Amino acid sequence: MAMMEMMVMAMMFLTMLVVDAGDTNTVYQPCMDTTVRTGDGFTFGVAFDSYTSFFYNQTQLSPCDQRLGLSSANSQLALFRPKVDEISLLTINTTTNFFPSNYGGYMVAFAGQKYAARSLPAFVANSTYIVTSFTLVLEFSQGQLQNLYWKRYGCSSCAGNSTFVCLNQQDCAFKTSSCINQGGSVDCSIGIQLAFSGTDKNYVALNSWYEVANLRQYSLYGLYSNLKNSLSSQFNGLF
Ligand SMILES: *[C@@H]1O[C@H](CO)[C@@H](O)[C@H](O)[C@H]1NC(C)=O
Ligand SMILES: *[C@@H]1O[C@H](CO)[C@@H](O)[C@H](O)[C@H]1NC(C)=O
Ligand SMILES: *[C@@H]1O[C@H](CO)[C@@H](O)[C@H](O)[C@H]1NC(C)=O
Ligand SMILES: *[C@@H]1O[C@H](CO)[C@@H](O)[C@H](O)[C@H]1NC(C)=O
Repeated sequence: MAMMEMMVMAMMFLTMLVVDAGDTNTVYQPCMDTTVRTGDGFTFGVAFDSYTSFFYNQTQLSPCDQRLGLSSANSQLALFRPKVDEISLLTINTTTNFFPSNYGGYMVAFAGQKYAARSLPAFVANSTYIVTSFTLVLEFSQGQLQNLYWKRYGCSSCAGNSTFVCLNQQDCAFKTSSCINQGGSVDCSIGIQLAFSGTDKNYVALNSWYEVANLRQYSLYGLYSNLKNSLSSQFNGLF
């Protein structure tokens, strides 16, 4: 816990989505366990560091685990509290003082203590390239987070657009030199599309994953119209 507080103190930015009256989850700490129902807020973190920093003795641990020592390392943390089963687009603004390649270039999404769910490290940026568009699935069982994983769609959304480079046949990336704070004109802020799957604590099925998977080709983008002009138009092709 102390380690998490240190991380929170050390972070340069904190994005917290609005909590509302329907929220019955009293756990606001990403390194604690909780069980949630549809409509609750759910707090999780995204830690930025190097790929190897998320491993201890060749095992990937949760960033909450003190053995990783992330609080003393060159890590950054973003906290989010989306509503369970609501499709959300989270953003991490990289145009001002946070650029992920300065912090190891990989990110891990995580929550929980005993269950300590964490995603695999996802490549975000190095000095040459930055990936700005991600889909994160949060999988619950009876309201308890079981798994976090990055869903990948390949490079079809950027195929044929020379602004993008397709990395490892998996991620559409910008050249960092085209980003605003690196001398270019593209807002290279990171967008994380969230989806929920599994069941809540009342055994109610979480459906937003189903919706994302099915609506992705149509017009979910309208939900984020306030971001339309600021997020890279990569999302235009997605929704
Ligand atoms: C590292 O992992 C090996 C194999 O799982 C285990 O035998 C060893 O005790 C671990 N070392 C530490 C310091 O945790
Ligand atoms: C950046 O990442 C890409 C994709 O993994 C890799 O091809 C490239 O060599 C890396 N560049 C640097 C400077 O590390
Ligand atoms: C990031 O912040 C800059 C400066 O405040 C702003 O102009 C831009 O629209 C923001 N981008 C996103 C995606 O929120
Ligand atoms: C390529 O992507 C950039 C950045 O998202 C966008 O501004 C541009 O319109 C796209 N070009 C084409 C030909 O789709």
